[in-house]
Amino acid sequence: MTLFRREFLSAGAAATLSAGAALAQGAPAAGARAPEPPPTSAGNSLPDNEKKIRIVTLRDLEAEAEKVMVPFGFAYVAGGAGDEWTMKENLAAFNRWTIMPNYLTGHRSSDPSTTILGTRIACPVIAAPVGNQGVVHAQGELPTVKGTALAGTTYVTSSVSQMSLEDIVAASSGDKWFQIYFPDDRSFATELLQRAKAAEYKVIVITVDATITSNRERATRLIGAPLPGLAMGNSPGTPGVTGNAMAMKIDLTWDDVDFCRSTTGLPVIVKGILSPAQALEAERRGCAGVWLSNHGGRQLDNTPYAITVLPRVAEALKGRTAIIIDGGVYRGQDVFRALALGANAVALGRPLQYGSALGGAQGVRSVYDHLRTEFTMTMQLAGTPTVQSIARNCLERAET
Ligand SMILES: Cc1cc2nc3c(=O)[nH]c(=O)nc-3n(C[C@H](O)[C@H](O)[C@H](O)COP(=O)(O)O)c2cc1C
Repeated sequence: MTLFRREFLSAGAAATLSAGAALAQGAPAAGARAPEPPPTSAGNSLPDNEKKIRIVTLRDLEAEAEKVMVPFGFAYVAGGAGDEWTMKENLAAFNRWTIMPNYLTGHRSSDPSTTILGTRIACPVIAAPVGNQGVVHAQGELPTVKGTALAGTTYVTSSVSQMSLEDIVAASSGDKWFQIYFPDDRSFATELLQRAKAAEYKVIVITVDATITSNRERATRLIGAPLPGLAMGNSPGTPGVTGNAMAMKIDLTWDDVDFCRSTTGLPVIVKGILSPAQALEAERRGCAGVWLSNHGGRQLDNTPYAITVLPRVAEALKGRTAIIIDGGVYRGQDVFRALALGANAVALGRPLQYGSALGGAQGVRSVYDHLRTEFTMTMQLAGTPTVQSIARNCLERAET
């Protein structure tokens, strides 16, 4: 089964936008046609490395990964929407907060482990859902799935993965959540949700910020560049439901969030929340968590960055509902600042993909290991021996 190459490459301005942007957001274009037979790999040489990588700082990874990734794959992962303002702000925003260390506390070690929705994880860092990892590594999602389990944390499966959601569960023993781009076809939505429940995913994450494709200009410029052949792991199996069912539901509502809950009975997290009002509505509807995100700056450019809205959302929710944030997390200090402002965990998108391109599952593990070490160092130097002790008074706003 394939990921509709034609959707990316069809002629015409509108089609061109959806062609580049659909892949770029890891989601099928709204109104996408049925999948075609597999395209060949067109001479692409995808990375197929399996090795630990030596990391001085995660900030070096993007440039190193560019050297081994196919050009379209790199544009797809590294790019953002529009002027990429939001994507850049995701990085800059952390430095608007300074860490106020509490010295002379007398503790000799710090424990970075924590619990998120009932599961113990080695560090408050999980894998963000990333679709179409077949453009990153010859083995698609496998390196990230395995590397995440090796690191002792949670993998969030994108509904637009090359591997099926069942194969992803079978690939490692680690804890898994299922992220759904809610399909326009209700029967297919039901099928996906029931499959996720049957496969024993623990949590459903519904992404609400990607109902249409966005202006991913780096990817659009490369339309026509060779694309790897990409399987579609979760195409419909229900009789009468065609490949068109993969099209995203454009007119998504809170009822669709409720539907995820009523269909599975599993905890639901809403991903893409950027305001206290929406976070409170998610809580009112019984969601187990909110995921503050601007999709790594890949959807609506000029939206705020998660770390900026986090204090107001945390103040509104008062610890009653789990908060995950993502976007631009590259430092242990970023993890620390997110937790101090009220997040329960952070998620990594691009850094894990660069780890996969550079070293497969071991490369992904190296990324987690490096970040955990830097986070533990930050905890120790800041005087916070446990994750629970990281609080709002550990930070001050930076003077500009
Ligand atoms: C290549 C790529 C594909 C993505 N695919 C999905 C997806 O399938 N579902 C989703 O909810 N978010 C997707 N995202 C967004 C991530 O889950 C996450 O919000 C974002 O990458 C976080 O920012 P960071 O890359 O700076 O860590 C994708 C991001 C990237 C970079």
